[in-house]
Amino acid sequence: MKRACVIGWPIEHSRSPLIHGYWLKQYGIAGSYTKEAVPPEDVAEFLRSLDARGLAGCNVTVPHKEAAYAIADEREPSARAVQAANTLWLEGGKLHAANTDTYGFMTYLDHVVPTWKAHDGPVCVLGAGGAARAIVYGFLEAGVHEVRIFNRTRARAEQLADAFGPRVKVFDWLARNEGAREACVLVNTTAAGLKGQGALDMDLAGFNPECVVADIVYVPLETELLAQARTSGLRTVDGLGMLLHQAVPGFERWFGVRPQVTDALRDLVIADIEGRRC
Ligand code: ATR
Repeated sequence: MKRACVIGWPIEHSRSPLIHGYWLKQYGIAGSYTKEAVPPEDVAEFLRSLDARGLAGCNVTVPHKEAAYAIADEREPSARAVQAANTLWLEGGKLHAANTDTYGFMTYLDHVVPTWKAHDGPVCVLGAGGAARAIVYGFLEAGVHEVRIFNRTRARAEQLADAFGPRVKVFDWLARNEGAREACVLVNTTAAGLKGQGALDMDLAGFNPECVVADIVYVPLETELLAQARTSGLRTVDGLGMLLHQAVPGFERWFGVRPQVTDALRDLVIADIEGRRC
């Protein structure tokens, strides 16, 4: 029986077991996917002993993504770009690391708005943390000419821009409304908008009517930013799609089947979010 898991600290909130458990059942695979609470001091030992624990690999979530990246023997370009890993697997006796957030975000964007084009205008990203890095990398790989970063802490935005080169430009956080108006895609990667974390305070008035507005927050599923975009007639991309699609490459690595993200899976996760209200 093939086994995988997700590790984090804390881990209780993770919806990965629900997603992978659904696919295991759906494809009739005799496997298991569990969640393991691993404190920071035990991460290295845990990842070094995957084989001994009978695990084909694992997902890694907050706060272990950077540690997992550092511990891995082989790192895919997706992980190198973000300097963090969320998907690990054993191959030829070595620990391989990838970051599938880029894949998850870009795949869902392409799915919801297949007509968006890299040359339609600048892409604007709110935030400069790990999720922002994954998304900036995705847009640069897609051929976007200019990515504008707006972050509360400007120094962090500058670090991100330095890492990715001249196509990434830093804008002032306080100028986010004017600075993002001509965007073809606006993405919120900050925790603002997450339930209980305060509002993002964007004003979409005067935005490019072709702008696609995306949020990686998925609790609530329709954030204030997405609600405003919808009422302004802008197309929206929610954060749940990224969560579902980022799980696909890991499942395929560990269990040998490329799973489908379906409406039924999406409904299952929405029901869980509504049931747990967190
Ligand atoms: P992740 O890996 O999810 O991106 P992170 O690395 O902790 O998480 O980054 C969180 C991002 O959300 C940062 O850009 C942070 O801004 P700072 O760099 O200034 O801390 C941003 N953020 C968090 N709470 C915010 C808030 N209330 N308003 C604006 N930005 C916020």
